[in-house]
Amino acid sequence: MSKEQQNNTDKIYIFDTTLRDGEQSPGATMTLEEKLQIAEALDDMGVDIIEAGFPIASNGDFAAVSEISKRSKNSVIAGLARAIPADIDRAGEAVKFAKRGRIHTFVSTSPIHLAHQMKKSQDEVLEIVTKTVSQARNLIDDVEWSGMDATRTPVEFLARCTEAAIKAGATTINIPDTVGYSTPEDYYQLIFDIISMVPNSDKAIFSTHCHNDLGMAVANSLAGVRAGARQVECTINGLGERAGNAALEEIVMALQTRADALPYHTNIDATHLSKASKIVSLAANFPVQYNKAIVGKNAFAHESGIHQDGMLKNAQTYEIMTPESVGLKQTSYVMGKHSGRHAFKKKLAELGYELGDNQFQEAFVRFKDLADRKKNVYDEDIIALVDDEMGSAGDKIKLLELEVVSKTGGEHRCFIKLDVDGEEVSLTENGEGSVDAIFNAIKKAVGANPHLLLYGVDAVTGGTDAQANAQVRLEMNDKIVSGRATEPDTLVASARAYLSAYNRLLVDSGAAAQGAMSG
Ligand code: KIV
Ligand code: ZN
Repeated sequence: MSKEQQNNTDKIYIFDTTLRDGEQSPGATMTLEEKLQIAEALDDMGVDIIEAGFPIASNGDFAAVSEISKRSKNSVIAGLARAIPADIDRAGEAVKFAKRGRIHTFVSTSPIHLAHQMKKSQDEVLEIVTKTVSQARNLIDDVEWSGMDATRTPVEFLARCTEAAIKAGATTINIPDTVGYSTPEDYYQLIFDIISMVPNSDKAIFSTHCHNDLGMAVANSLAGVRAGARQVECTINGLGERAGNAALEEIVMALQTRADALPYHTNIDATHLSKASKIVSLAANFPVQYNKAIVGKNAFAHESGIHQDGMLKNAQTYEIMTPESVGLKQTSYVMGKHSGRHAFKKKLAELGYELGDNQFQEAFVRFKDLADRKKNVYDEDIIALVDDEMGSAGDKIKLLELEVVSKTGGEHRCFIKLDVDGEEVSLTENGEGSVDAIFNAIKKAVGANPHLLLYGVDAVTGGTDAQANAQVRLEMNDKIVSGRATEPDTLVASARAYLSAYNRLLVDSGAAAQGAMSG
């Protein structure tokens, strides 16, 4: 442990893995630009360590980790590596430009992984730990070692691996609940036992990494902290494999709001949380569940009469933290067709958006168009409209025209005109229903047949004039991507959501290679 770490024993280091474990969520593939934007937001918010990717997984991942390393201001930049020499070298190469870089190497330790996946004995794994951590330590001073599936590993063996990793030079030891199986009591005990049993444990920082399969990732991480862990691995919006990872915003706000019960602090400026959540949701094309703690649309909404009455008398009656504390700005006025350019700009600033001139102009034209069709344009409408505008910038294929004819019990026909990389393509196609006809028409126009994994629509606000928010998830050549679009018309939203996903399929970001690893 460094001097700084020893002097800060109540400090919890926040290790964000949105760009690595988060990106492993099916459909959450992000472009390089999006990853850079997220890394900048994490750095500005005060994240101590950003796990920027898995450099050996693809050229795209390598480029993201090395570019984020070059640009990082304060955060340590980590690259993930399996316990394989080529992985470790590649991770070392990717993080070498960072002011402070880290190699994070992992190997499975549980009997079930050893028997079925690794086909190795415990002694062989111990040897691998020493060799790989030593190799990483020869490349860089900051090395993290993780025992994959640690929570299903006999504690004596995990302790031996931990001792060997620290002896070989690991400065952080991560104890992952890879399959989200632990309870807070189990996890507390495991961290406590490992720290107590390992003779050189004072030479490393211990870390939590909890998955949310049973909905206990945050509770488990906090139990780990109480037992002595001083680093928490987490993701924005809880993004991650399967049910996701512990949510960064929940960890941070639990520590901030319940400092009486959890007397620790982080370096995070919580007023950046809402904005970061929005950026990640948009980049990963993963909507945030309405009632998600801290960053959900309803997290600070009070609907029942009794609650509203209490809130009007004193906000503390039903509010344990303020919306402002997580960066939500209370905006005062509803926009409409008489609102001009100046009011629109002011509203965007209140909602936390900074648009370039061209993007502002495009968003303003769409806002005026919407205000002509809809009496009141609410904040939710503007957020959806701007997110849509930002999300579709740079698309190669754009919708120019759509006409759908649907008859009860009869045919469903779609005429579509697309701009395909500067060329107009138009045709007519039939389907089992309106949306089927639209998707068939797009597939024919682009000459591809991706597998549709998900299609859904919800309304941005109430009322029959509400905008529709459509979501589409597609799979092709082992790559899964999601797309979203918001439009006053449900069918146009559906067509644009399909195109948004298809445009992502055209961008190579190495999702296929990532599918090869777990956790
Ligand atoms: O869940 C897990 O075990 C992981 C490791 C790679 C740390 O993500
Ligand atoms: Zn994981």
